[in-house]
Amino acid sequence: MADAATLDRAAEILRGGGIVAFPTETVYGLAADAENEAAVRRVFAVKGRPLDHPVIVHLGDAAALRAWARAIPDAAHVLAQRFWPGPLTLVLPRSARARDVVTGGQDTVALRVPAHPVARTILGRFGGALIAPSANRFGGPSATTAAHVAADFGAGVDLIVDGGAATIGLESTIVDLSGDAPSILRPGGVTREALEAALGAALPPRESSTVRASGTLPSHYAPSARVELAVDASIAVTRALELRAEGARVAIVGTEPEPLETLAHELYARLRAADADGAEVVVVVLPLGEGLAAALRDRLVRAAAPRQD
Ligand code: TXA
Ligand code: MG
Repeated sequence: MADAATLDRAAEILRGGGIVAFPTETVYGLAADAENEAAVRRVFAVKGRPLDHPVIVHLGDAAALRAWARAIPDAAHVLAQRFWPGPLTLVLPRSARARDVVTGGQDTVALRVPAHPVARTILGRFGGALIAPSANRFGGPSATTAAHVAADFGAGVDLIVDGGAATIGLESTIVDLSGDAPSILRPGGVTREALEAALGAALPPRESSTVRASGTLPSHYAPSARVELAVDASIAVTRALELRAEGARVAIVGTEPEPLETLAHELYARLRAADADGAEVVVVVLPLGEGLAAALRDRLVRAAAPRQD
Protein backbone atom coordinates (compact mmCIF):
# COMPACT_ATOMS: atom_id res chain seq x y z
CA MET A 1 0.00 0.00 0.00
CA ALA A 2 1.17 3.54 -0.76
CA ASP A 3 2.75 5.32 2.21
CA ALA A 4 0.89 7.74 4.46
CA ALA A 5 2.64 10.82 3.05
CA THR A 6 1.59 9.92 -0.52
CA LEU A 7 -2.02 9.40 0.58
CA ASP A 8 -2.00 12.78 2.36
CA ARG A 9 -0.57 14.42 -0.73
CA ALA A 10 -3.27 12.80 -2.87
CA ALA A 11 -6.00 14.29 -0.66
CA GLU A 12 -4.31 17.69 -0.71
CA ILE A 13 -4.03 17.71 -4.53
CA LEU A 14 -7.71 16.74 -4.80
CA ARG A 15 -8.73 19.54 -2.42
CA GLY A 16 -6.79 21.94 -4.64
CA GLY A 17 -8.73 20.87 -7.75
CA GLY A 18 -6.05 18.50 -9.09
CA ILE A 19 -6.27 15.06 -10.67
CA VAL A 20 -5.08 11.92 -8.87
CA ALA A 21 -5.04 8.40 -10.32
CA PHE A 22 -5.51 5.64 -7.76
CA PRO A 23 -6.38 1.95 -7.64
CA THR A 24 -9.83 0.62 -6.89
CA GLU A 25 -10.71 -3.06 -6.61
CA THR A 26 -12.04 -2.93 -10.20
CA VAL A 27 -9.65 -0.78 -12.27
CA TYR A 28 -7.60 2.39 -11.67
CA GLY A 29 -9.62 5.62 -11.56
CA LEU A 30 -8.77 9.18 -12.55
CA ALA A 31 -10.14 11.12 -9.61
CA ALA A 32 -11.17 14.72 -9.03
CA ASP A 33 -13.40 16.60 -6.57
CA ALA A 34 -16.97 15.78 -7.69
CA GLU A 35 -18.13 19.24 -6.56
CA ASN A 36 -15.42 21.20 -8.37
CA GLU A 37 -16.67 21.78 -11.89
CA ALA A 38 -13.32 22.96 -13.26
CA ALA A 39 -11.56 19.89 -11.86
CA VAL A 40 -14.19 17.57 -13.35
CA ARG A 41 -13.80 19.27 -16.74
CA ARG A 42 -10.05 18.77 -16.57
CA VAL A 43 -10.54 15.02 -16.14
CA PHE A 44 -12.77 14.94 -19.23
CA ALA A 45 -10.15 16.87 -21.19
CA VAL A 46 -7.27 14.65 -20.05
CA LYS A 47 -9.19 11.47 -20.94
CA GLY A 48 -10.47 12.86 -24.24
CA ARG A 49 -13.96 11.97 -23.01
CA PRO A 50 -17.06 13.56 -24.61
CA LEU A 51 -18.85 15.90 -22.16
CA ASP A 52 -22.18 14.09 -22.48
CA HIS A 53 -20.66 10.85 -21.14
CA PRO A 54 -21.50 10.82 -17.39
CA VAL A 55 -19.05 9.79 -14.68
CA ILE A 56 -19.45 7.79 -11.47
CA VAL A 57 -19.36 9.62 -8.14
CA HIS A 58 -17.32 7.68 -5.57
CA LEU A 59 -18.42 7.98 -1.96
CA GLY A 60 -16.59 7.19 1.27
CA ASP A 61 -19.61 5.40 2.72
CA ALA A 62 -23.23 4.56 2.01
CA ALA A 63 -24.47 7.32 4.34
CA ALA A 64 -23.39 9.85 1.68
CA LEU A 65 -26.06 8.42 -0.67
CA ARG A 66 -28.61 10.81 0.82
CA ALA A 67 -26.59 13.85 -0.19
CA TRP A 68 -26.30 12.76 -3.83
CA ALA A 69 -29.63 11.03 -4.58
CA ARG A 70 -33.01 12.69 -4.02
CA ALA A 71 -34.93 9.40 -3.96
CA ILE A 72 -33.57 6.14 -2.59
CA PRO A 73 -35.76 3.10 -3.28
CA ASP A 74 -35.66 0.09 -0.93
CA ALA A 75 -33.68 -1.86 -3.54
CA ALA A 76 -30.88 0.72 -3.25
CA HIS A 77 -30.66 0.19 0.50
CA VAL A 78 -30.65 -3.58 0.02
CA LEU A 79 -27.90 -3.53 -2.61
CA ALA A 80 -25.78 -0.93 -0.80
CA GLN A 81 -26.02 -2.92 2.41
CA ARG A 82 -25.06 -6.15 0.67
CA PHE A 83 -22.38 -4.99 -1.82
CA TRP A 84 -20.81 -1.75 -0.54
CA PRO A 85 -18.00 -1.17 -0.27
CA GLY A 86 -17.47 -3.09 -3.51
CA PRO A 87 -17.70 -3.27 -7.30
CA LEU A 88 -21.30 -2.07 -7.68
CA THR A 89 -22.55 1.27 -9.02
CA LEU A 90 -26.15 2.41 -8.45
CA VAL A 91 -27.90 4.86 -10.76
CA LEU A 92 -30.44 6.95 -8.83
CA PRO A 93 -32.40 10.18 -9.32
CA ARG A 94 -29.84 12.92 -8.67
CA SER A 95 -29.88 15.58 -5.97
CA ALA A 96 -28.89 19.18 -6.73
CA ARG A 97 -25.35 18.33 -5.60
CA ALA A 98 -24.84 16.21 -8.74
CA ARG A 99 -24.15 18.84 -11.38
CA ASP A 100 -24.76 18.57 -15.10
CA VAL A 101 -21.03 18.21 -15.77
CA VAL A 102 -21.03 15.00 -13.65
CA THR A 103 -24.28 13.50 -14.95
CA GLY A 104 -23.94 14.53 -18.57
CA GLY A 105 -27.09 16.62 -18.06
CA GLN A 106 -29.16 13.55 -17.14
CA ASP A 107 -31.54 13.59 -14.18
CA THR A 108 -29.77 10.60 -12.62
CA VAL A 109 -26.41 10.11 -10.94
CA ALA A 110 -24.20 7.00 -10.72
CA LEU A 111 -22.84 6.30 -7.22
CA ARG A 112 -20.44 3.77 -5.78
CA VAL A 113 -18.46 3.09 -2.60
CA PRO A 114 -15.17 1.43 -3.62
CA ALA A 115 -13.58 -1.27 -1.45
CA HIS A 116 -9.88 -0.85 -2.24
CA PRO A 117 -7.98 0.33 0.87
CA VAL A 118 -6.09 3.02 -1.11
CA ALA A 119 -9.31 4.42 -2.60
CA ARG A 120 -11.01 4.30 0.79
CA THR A 121 -8.14 6.01 2.55
CA ILE A 122 -7.93 8.79 -0.04
CA LEU A 123 -11.72 9.32 0.07
CA GLY A 124 -11.54 9.44 3.86
CA ARG A 125 -8.69 11.97 3.94
CA PHE A 126 -10.24 14.05 1.19
CA GLY A 127 -13.54 14.08 3.06
CA GLY A 128 -15.90 14.51 0.08
CA ALA A 129 -17.00 12.70 -3.05
CA LEU A 130 -14.77 12.02 -6.06
CA ILE A 131 -15.56 11.38 -9.68
CA ALA A 132 -13.28 8.61 -10.93
CA PRO A 133 -13.68 7.44 -14.50
CA SER A 134 -11.43 4.57 -15.49
CA ALA A 135 -7.86 5.87 -15.85
CA ASN A 136 -7.44 5.26 -19.58
CA ARG A 137 -7.75 7.31 -22.72
CA PHE A 138 -11.37 7.37 -23.85
CA GLY A 139 -12.26 4.24 -25.83
CA GLY A 140 -9.09 2.35 -24.92
CA PRO A 141 -8.46 -0.57 -22.55
CA SER A 142 -8.86 0.35 -18.88
CA ALA A 143 -5.80 0.60 -16.64
CA THR A 144 -5.24 -2.08 -14.02
CA THR A 145 -1.75 -1.01 -12.91
CA ALA A 146 -0.04 2.29 -12.14
CA ALA A 147 2.24 1.66 -15.15
CA HIS A 148 -0.81 1.52 -17.44
CA VAL A 149 -1.92 4.92 -16.14
CA ALA A 150 1.55 6.38 -16.64
CA ALA A 151 1.67 5.00 -20.18
CA ASP A 152 -1.65 6.68 -21.04
CA PHE A 153 -1.20 10.02 -19.28
CA GLY A 154 2.36 10.56 -18.10
CA ALA A 155 2.55 14.07 -16.69
CA GLY A 156 -1.09 14.75 -17.60
CA VAL A 157 -2.18 13.82 -14.08
CA ASP A 158 -0.89 15.43 -10.90
CA LEU A 159 -0.20 12.19 -9.01
CA ILE A 160 -0.43 8.46 -9.68
CA VAL A 161 -0.81 6.45 -6.48
CA ASP A 162 0.59 2.94 -7.00
CA GLY A 163 -1.41 0.33 -5.10
CA GLY A 164 -0.39 -2.69 -7.15
CA ALA A 165 -2.60 -4.42 -9.72
CA ALA A 166 -6.36 -3.82 -9.38
CA THR A 167 -7.90 -6.95 -7.85
CA ILE A 168 -10.84 -7.75 -10.12
CA GLY A 169 -9.63 -6.15 -13.35
CA LEU A 170 -13.08 -5.29 -14.80
CA GLU A 171 -15.19 -2.21 -14.06
CA SER A 172 -18.05 -2.20 -11.54
CA THR A 173 -21.49 -3.57 -12.33
CA ILE A 174 -23.92 -0.69 -12.97
CA VAL A 175 -27.53 -1.15 -11.86
CA ASP A 176 -30.16 1.42 -12.82
CA LEU A 177 -32.60 1.97 -9.95
CA SER A 178 -34.07 5.18 -11.34
CA GLY A 179 -36.89 3.52 -13.30
CA ASP A 180 -39.80 1.25 -12.47
CA ALA A 181 -37.70 -1.92 -12.19
CA PRO A 182 -33.97 -2.42 -11.57
CA SER A 183 -31.89 -3.20 -14.65
CA ILE A 184 -28.23 -3.93 -15.31
CA LEU A 185 -26.61 -1.25 -17.50
CA ARG A 186 -23.09 -2.73 -17.37
CA PRO A 187 -22.25 -6.27 -16.18
CA GLY A 188 -19.20 -6.40 -13.91
CA GLY A 189 -17.64 -7.60 -10.69
CA VAL A 190 -21.00 -8.19 -8.98
CA THR A 191 -22.82 -10.82 -11.02
CA ARG A 192 -26.46 -10.84 -12.12
CA GLU A 193 -26.94 -14.00 -10.04
CA ALA A 194 -25.66 -12.27 -6.88
CA LEU A 195 -27.87 -9.21 -7.53
CA GLU A 196 -30.95 -11.37 -8.08
CA ALA A 197 -30.25 -13.31 -4.88
CA ALA A 198 -29.94 -10.07 -2.89
CA LEU A 199 -33.09 -8.53 -4.41
CA GLY A 200 -35.09 -11.76 -4.30
CA ALA A 201 -36.27 -11.04 -7.82
CA ALA A 202 -35.19 -11.68 -11.39
CA LEU A 203 -33.61 -8.74 -13.21
CA PRO A 204 -35.20 -8.18 -16.59
CA PRO A 205 -33.03 -8.61 -19.65
CA ARG A 206 -31.73 -5.37 -21.10
CA GLU A 207 -34.39 -3.25 -22.71
CA SER A 208 -34.39 -3.59 -26.45
CA SER A 209 -33.65 0.14 -26.81
CA THR A 210 -30.25 -0.36 -25.18
CA VAL A 211 -29.34 -3.43 -27.24
CA ARG A 212 -27.56 -2.25 -30.32
CA ALA A 213 -26.86 -4.13 -33.51
CA SER A 214 -23.20 -5.12 -33.60
CA GLY A 215 -22.54 -2.83 -36.55
CA THR A 216 -23.46 0.19 -34.47
CA LEU A 217 -22.08 -1.00 -31.13
CA PRO A 218 -19.78 1.75 -29.88
CA SER A 219 -16.16 0.71 -29.81
CA HIS A 220 -14.79 0.75 -26.27
CA TYR A 221 -12.04 -0.91 -24.20
CA ALA A 222 -10.25 -1.33 -27.52
CA PRO A 223 -6.48 -1.67 -27.99
CA SER A 224 -4.88 -0.21 -31.13
CA ALA A 225 -4.74 -3.72 -32.58
CA ARG A 226 -7.90 -5.00 -34.22
CA VAL A 227 -9.74 -7.48 -31.96
CA GLU A 228 -11.22 -10.67 -33.43
CA LEU A 229 -13.40 -12.96 -31.32
CA ALA A 230 -13.40 -16.75 -31.48
CA VAL A 231 -15.95 -19.06 -29.88
CA ASP A 232 -13.37 -21.60 -28.76
CA ALA A 233 -9.64 -22.14 -28.48
CA SER A 234 -9.21 -24.32 -31.57
CA ILE A 235 -11.00 -21.80 -33.77
CA ALA A 236 -8.82 -19.05 -32.28
CA VAL A 237 -5.62 -20.95 -33.03
CA THR A 238 -6.73 -21.76 -36.59
CA ARG A 239 -7.60 -18.11 -37.19
CA ALA A 240 -4.30 -16.90 -35.71
CA LEU A 241 -2.35 -19.25 -37.98
CA GLU A 242 -4.34 -18.07 -40.99
CA LEU A 243 -3.64 -14.42 -40.17
CA ARG A 244 0.06 -15.16 -39.58
CA ALA A 245 0.22 -16.94 -42.93
CA GLU A 246 -1.07 -13.70 -44.46
CA GLY A 247 1.83 -11.89 -42.81
CA ALA A 248 -0.05 -10.24 -39.93
CA ARG A 249 1.43 -9.86 -36.44
CA VAL A 250 -1.04 -11.68 -34.21
CA ALA A 251 -1.48 -11.97 -30.45
CA ILE A 252 -3.79 -14.52 -28.90
CA VAL A 253 -5.70 -14.32 -25.60
CA GLY A 254 -7.73 -16.89 -23.69
CA THR A 255 -6.71 -20.13 -25.39
CA GLU A 256 -5.20 -21.69 -22.25
CA PRO A 257 -7.62 -23.05 -19.62
CA GLU A 258 -7.69 -20.64 -16.68
CA PRO A 259 -10.19 -19.43 -14.07
CA LEU A 260 -12.44 -16.61 -15.24
CA GLU A 261 -11.08 -14.52 -12.35
CA THR A 262 -7.60 -14.77 -13.86
CA LEU A 263 -8.79 -13.74 -17.31
CA ALA A 264 -10.68 -10.77 -15.81
CA HIS A 265 -7.66 -9.76 -13.74
CA GLU A 266 -5.34 -9.94 -16.77
CA LEU A 267 -7.56 -8.94 -19.70
CA TYR A 268 -6.66 -5.26 -20.05
CA ALA A 269 -2.97 -5.96 -19.36
CA ARG A 270 -2.96 -8.55 -22.16
CA LEU A 271 -4.67 -6.22 -24.63
CA ARG A 272 -2.14 -3.52 -23.74
CA ALA A 273 0.74 -5.99 -24.05
CA ALA A 274 -0.47 -6.94 -27.54
CA ASP A 275 -0.16 -3.27 -28.54
CA ALA A 276 3.25 -2.96 -26.90
CA ASP A 277 4.40 -6.00 -28.90
CA GLY A 278 3.25 -4.37 -32.12
CA ALA A 279 0.41 -6.82 -32.81
CA GLU A 280 -1.97 -5.83 -35.60
CA VAL A 281 -4.65 -8.31 -34.56
CA VAL A 282 -5.56 -9.87 -31.20
CA VAL A 283 -7.60 -13.06 -31.42
CA VAL A 284 -9.55 -13.57 -28.18
CA VAL A 285 -11.57 -16.60 -27.09
CA LEU A 286 -14.99 -15.53 -25.76
CA PRO A 287 -15.62 -17.13 -22.35
CA LEU A 288 -18.85 -19.11 -22.01
CA GLY A 289 -21.35 -19.03 -19.16
CA GLU A 290 -22.85 -16.53 -16.76
CA GLY A 291 -21.42 -14.48 -13.90
CA LEU A 292 -18.03 -12.93 -14.65
CA ALA A 293 -18.12 -14.50 -18.15
CA ALA A 294 -21.02 -12.17 -19.05
CA ALA A 295 -18.97 -9.14 -17.98
CA LEU A 296 -15.96 -10.36 -19.97
CA ARG A 297 -18.08 -10.90 -23.09
CA ASP A 298 -19.53 -7.39 -22.74
CA ARG A 299 -16.02 -5.86 -22.74
CA LEU A 300 -14.72 -8.11 -25.52
CA VAL A 301 -17.64 -7.53 -27.87
CA ARG A 302 -17.11 -3.77 -27.49
CA ALA A 303 -13.36 -4.10 -27.92
CA ALA A 304 -14.07 -5.94 -31.20
CA ALA A 305 -16.70 -3.45 -32.42
CA PRO A 306 -15.92 -1.42 -35.54
CA ARG A 307 -13.88 1.69 -34.71
CA GLN A 308 -15.26 5.17 -35.26
CA ASP A 309 -12.09 6.50 -36.81
O1 TXA B 1 -15.26 0.20 -11.70
C1 TXA B 1 -15.59 1.33 -12.06
O2 TXA B 1 -16.76 1.71 -12.08
C2 TXA B 1 -14.45 2.29 -12.43
C3 TXA B 1 -13.65 2.57 -11.17
C4 TXA B 1 -12.50 3.52 -11.40
O3 TXA B 1 -14.49 3.03 -10.16
N1 TXA B 1 -14.95 3.48 -13.04
C5 TXA B 1 -15.49 3.48 -14.30
O4 TXA B 1 -15.84 4.74 -14.75
O5 TXA B 1 -15.62 2.48 -14.96
P1 TXA B 1 -16.09 5.05 -16.29
O6 TXA B 1 -16.27 6.53 -16.32
O7 TXA B 1 -15.00 4.50 -17.12
O8 TXA B 1 -17.46 4.37 -16.61
C6 TXA B 1 -18.62 4.96 -16.07
C7 TXA B 1 -19.83 4.38 -16.71
C8 TXA B 1 -20.03 4.89 -18.11
O9 TXA B 1 -20.38 3.80 -18.94
C9 TXA B 1 -21.22 5.83 -17.97
O10 TXA B 1 -22.02 5.86 -19.10
C10 TXA B 1 -21.97 5.23 -16.78
O11 TXA B 1 -20.95 4.81 -15.93
N2 TXA B 1 -22.76 6.23 -16.08
C11 TXA B 1 -22.33 7.25 -15.34
N3 TXA B 1 -23.35 8.00 -14.88
C12 TXA B 1 -24.48 7.42 -15.36
C13 TXA B 1 -25.87 7.71 -15.26
N4 TXA B 1 -26.32 8.76 -14.57
N5 TXA B 1 -26.73 6.90 -15.89
C14 TXA B 1 -26.29 5.83 -16.59
N6 TXA B 1 -24.99 5.49 -16.73
C15 TXA B 1 -24.09 6.27 -16.13
MG1 MG C 1 -14.15 3.52 -18.72
